[in-house]
Amino acid sequence: MRAVVLVGGFGTRLRPLTRSRPKPLLPVVHRPMLERCISGLVSAGVDEVILALGFRPDTFERAFPDGRIDGVRLRYAVEPEPLDTAGAVRFAASQAGVNERLLVLNGDVLTDLDVGRLIELHERSAGRATIHLTEVDDPSRFGVVPIDDTNRVEAFVEKPPAETAPSRWINAGTYVFEPEVVSAIPAGRPVSMEREVFPQLVEDGHLYALQDDSYWIDAGTPQAYLEASLDLIDGTRDEEPAVHDTATVHHDATVRRSVISRDATVSAGASVLDSVVLDGAQVGPGATISGSIIGPRGRIGAAASLTHLCVTGDDAQIAEGAAHAGERLPEP
Ligand code: GTP
Repeated sequence: MRAVVLVGGFGTRLRPLTRSRPKPLLPVVHRPMLERCISGLVSAGVDEVILALGFRPDTFERAFPDGRIDGVRLRYAVEPEPLDTAGAVRFAASQAGVNERLLVLNGDVLTDLDVGRLIELHERSAGRATIHLTEVDDPSRFGVVPIDDTNRVEAFVEKPPAETAPSRWINAGTYVFEPEVVSAIPAGRPVSMEREVFPQLVEDGHLYALQDDSYWIDAGTPQAYLEASLDLIDGTRDEEPAVHDTATVHHDATVRRSVISRDATVSAGASVLDSVVLDGAQVGPGATISGSIIGPRGRIGAAASLTHLCVTGDDAQIAEGAAHAGERLPEP
């Protein structure tokens, strides 16, 4: 089976981290988000992934020079202009000559969904498209999807106010499409999956959905990116080594529930709490990093303090003794 993974967005909500690097290439505990997204597909029989690219396609080819992730072959489809979520699927499928059933994924979703279950329901219901739904506390930022007792989707309600939401099950960003769904997407212009393709499929009675509450997170905001990283080290989802082998943490520093990435350094007397320190960043003596993300190669001066979801960009320099809370440095 082949899959299209959508990775062409600008990732504006994660700036400045995504200024020079697309969101799916940001590491989540020492591995690019995209690798974590694709490695879960191997057991479902996916052997080729077509990356739907827009922003900085060059960075993907450089990140995966042998054109493979966990044995899955990569192909690249570079859009001449952003075609939005459905337009990008149409474009990528045509470029790769896909005429068969297709799996589609958002490249910024991390989930333990068993894709085999989604395909099983798709076959059982004989619909044209089947999508994964996950349950959230506050559905008002998402597309809410009520279903009937045959799993047929009854409506697609974009961003309903919390009190009027028909359910708390939302579109989770993994889809199985029959070829006629892809060929019905208009070619050559931006088309939205949520606003055009799904509402039409619902109207025609062809859209089905699997409610599945396996681990799921859309890592598209600083808060969610931090959560996705910490969930992998604190046992919420898994328990992976939080401090990379090549990182240096002084014996007199405190590191609690935090990721210290490749070649990063935490100096004497510094504290890093509930945070992510990315590749090659240096946390100076006595500095405090709390609930924040330090971008690659940042230099955090001695006794500086970054708290309450600060996000620093690549090579950011924070002066000795500076105090920042909830800021993007530099402002995007
Ligand atoms: P923000 O700018 O922060 O909203 O992020 P985004 O647009 O990069 O991501 P969003 O969560 O809105 O989109 C979901 C997925 O679709 C992400 O994996 C994006 O990379 C991808 N995506 C969004 N728009 C496009 C597009 O026009 N073309 C392609 N190929 N992918 C897209």
